[in-house]
Amino acid sequence: MIEYEISKKTCNTHQMVCEIATAVKARSILEIGVASGGLSKNLMSLPEVEFYVGLDPFRDPADAIKYNQVANVQHAISTFKTPNLCHRLLIQGTIHLLRAAHFDFIYIDGDHSIGGIYTDFNFVKRDMSCRLLGGHDFKNGTGVKPFISETVQGDDLVVIVDHSSNHWLDVSGLDDESKTRLHEVLTALSGEDHV
Ligand SMILES: C[S@@+](CC[C@H](N)C(=O)[O-])C[C@H]1O[C@@H](n2cnc3c(N)ncnc32)[C@H](O)[C@@H]1O
Repeated sequence: MIEYEISKKTCNTHQMVCEIATAVKARSILEIGVASGGLSKNLMSLPEVEFYVGLDPFRDPADAIKYNQVANVQHAISTFKTPNLCHRLLIQGTIHLLRAAHFDFIYIDGDHSIGGIYTDFNFVKRDMSCRLLGGHDFKNGTGVKPFISETVQGDDLVVIVDHSSNHWLDVSGLDDESKTRLHEVLTALSGEDHV
């Protein structure tokens, strides 16, 4: 595992994910777990992003209250520069549309239980292709860390801790050039060599 601690002044969590997407020149992105669309808004604003899909099972914001989230991406969409890029899909019924799709970057921030991350990780690995897979909340005492650290081996696992949050990346699908660029960007953002 390679870990980066991002220096405090550098960026917030959403900017951090955008830095990752930019470093690997992501043009197509899938986000699993959208909530109010805070991250989606940032990702869709990136100049290189041509295609964004946000996936969240809750059509009605009231259903998301149990997750303490407001799953109302419509409000966020109204502020997007390119609203036609956003596709809100329901897991039941439409998930099959994503089978065999290719994404440059898939970010998992949905169900963080061990069963949830197991399901999402394996679905993505089995049924889609992606260059970079990652997600949120590696270190927050959820099922994410136990599952990901068992599953993603050695230097393929990159963990990033920013001042308010943390992320994991499986870099095994990246070509050498993208991997180098990603590590360069993260080193620059951490302000010191990774540990
Ligand atoms: C932490 S929030 C996502 C925050 C968002 N990624 C951001 O940074 O702005 C988690 C979201 O995951 C959704 N969720 C829960 N279980 C899910 C699942 N199995 N698949 C996809 N999304 C899920 C919840 O509805 C909630 O909106």
